[in-house]
Amino acid sequence: MRPAQTVAMDLLPVPYAGQRTLFRFAHRGASGHAPENTLAAIRQALRFGVEGIELDVRLVEGVPVLYHGRRLEERTNGHGYISEAAFENLRSLDAGQGQRIPTLREALDLIDRRCRVNLELKGPGTGKAAVRVIRYYVEQRGWAYTDFLLSSFDQHELLAVRQRLPSVPLGLLLCGLPLDHCAQALKLGAESLHLSVDFIDPAIILDAHAHGLKVHVYTVNDTEDAMRLQAMGVDGIFSDFPERFAAMGIPACA
Ligand code: G3P
Ligand code: MG
Repeated sequence: MRPAQTVAMDLLPVPYAGQRTLFRFAHRGASGHAPENTLAAIRQALRFGVEGIELDVRLVEGVPVLYHGRRLEERTNGHGYISEAAFENLRSLDAGQGQRIPTLREALDLIDRRCRVNLELKGPGTGKAAVRVIRYYVEQRGWAYTDFLLSSFDQHELLAVRQRLPSVPLGLLLCGLPLDHCAQALKLGAESLHLSVDFIDPAIILDAHAHGLKVHVYTVNDTEDAMRLQAMGVDGIFSDFPERFAAMGIPACA
């Protein structure tokens, strides 16, 4: 439960950089530099030496693919709901700069354990489908469960994962701040809370840490924000421009 006394983020004293390191997740790949959730964005993130990459997972004809929105108009030259698209048709679309919508497996093959992978589950069935893929990469391809971090705003999808894979790390995504955010995360056996930068203050971080939970904050593209978050003890940030915070990061795959 959120303590009654909190300090607003803009009331913090001058932050001290470098005291703690920040784990940098490239948000939708390095999406400030290449079309989001594409192999080009992943490649750019890897070039930046990020510690992690966050990717949005949706299901198309049972195949996990990377895409943020519900509708294809959001980021492609296609039309309609992605959940109703035919897989072959989807693959012919332009997701920006000639990139196509990648499958989750294409993304994991490219990443090849060079950093942690945060899969954000978007839509019904994505948890179960992600479990199948993760099992394959752990059992057949030498990955570890801890190379992954599965997060979602949808607790039903997280529960579906937890019931099938007790050892894969989970992160509870929230867009606001419910009274019992820590309890919700602990109930799912999550290792982290993924909170919006709009709802962060020092007491939230202290409280989460007291409950044994890490806090990763989205979406942070501003260096002053990052320094303040770092000063508060935030564990990680999601950024479209992760290279801006290189000095605040930790060595890749440490
Ligand atoms: O996972 C952090 C962030 O990506 C959640 O929101 O809408 O950007 O997927 P969204
Ligand atoms: Mg996301």
